[in-house]
Amino acid sequence: MDKFKFAFKTLEILSDGNFHSGEEIARAISSSRVTVWKSVKQLKTIGVEVFAVRKKGYRLAKQVEILNENKVSQEMGELSQFINLEFFNVIESTNTYLLKESENKPHATVVLSNIQTKGKGRRGRSWQSKLGESLTMSILWKFGVGASRLSGLSLVIGIALKRAMDKLNIPNIFLKWPNDLMLKNDENLFKIGGVLIELKGDMESRCSAIIGIGINYEASNSLLKKIDQPAAGIKNLLSPDVSPNHLVCVFIKEVFSILSNFEENDFSYFKEEWIKYNAHHNNDIKLTKPNGELVFGKIIDLKENGSIIFENNKGEKETILTAEIGLT
Ligand code: BTN
Repeated sequence: MDKFKFAFKTLEILSDGNFHSGEEIARAISSSRVTVWKSVKQLKTIGVEVFAVRKKGYRLAKQVEILNENKVSQEMGELSQFINLEFFNVIESTNTYLLKESENKPHATVVLSNIQTKGKGRRGRSWQSKLGESLTMSILWKFGVGASRLSGLSLVIGIALKRAMDKLNIPNIFLKWPNDLMLKNDENLFKIGGVLIELKGDMESRCSAIIGIGINYEASNSLLKKIDQPAAGIKNLLSPDVSPNHLVCVFIKEVFSILSNFEENDFSYFKEEWIKYNAHHNNDIKLTKPNGELVFGKIIDLKENGSIIFENNKGEKETILTAEIGLT
């Protein structure tokens, strides 16, 4: 049984941002006022701010739209036949869950959660996933090829997310190598999403990829403070009638479509498209290597395995598979 069942039923009632009395909520969720009180306490433990005011009842700090399993699977249409959709209200991390469960779960399992309590980012960082702030999902894809063939996968997922943004009519979205989704405003870049891919299996024959996607949705000030680079959410860039349920469907559809294509073609097929979306095309950048070494120069090309060809300020060229990029 979902231990957050009543908490999320309570949340559904409160999601309009208005006051609701304990009695009214209890009636609506067919439970007692004590259960409502406990549910509110439980919501607070997972970072949901609920105000209690005497004689008025409970109210959320702000209106919020919760992901809804039925709405998502309905909108997935025909694709839902091929997907094993798993839905959580609260989970530690959708990636950690699929990493543990990958052997027991079918190909094309999609895990969605409203809240992650220990969301993971790349390079050991955390991914902030409070209610309503971030869209978080992981996809399990079982490849018939080994991990050595998948080095361009994370870049390809970046392309899928950029295509999804185009479908949603969100302009000025670019990719920062390897797969950050960035919003360009004047010449400034703001992170709006990222991809964390974890592989299980062997290098040569077959392997499972857990593809974790996080998109900043409603970036509160407290969220922005916790992110170590300029960031933004996409909510402000969308018309108010676009729901998070619709957004996750658009992302999942684009990712599925590109994955089927990536199984048949390697990264070289997608390379030109990635270069077109490169946020740092022809820019002077600084690059921090895994050993901490800092180099200055330009990305001049991409290799078929997704690594960059970097030309430093002295004109020396180098192929780089892992590094962090920033503007000079
Ligand atoms: C990054 O830019 O650092 C990658 C962020 C990836 C975050 C997503 S949210 C869903 C999935 N579950 C996690 O714990 N992380 C990924």
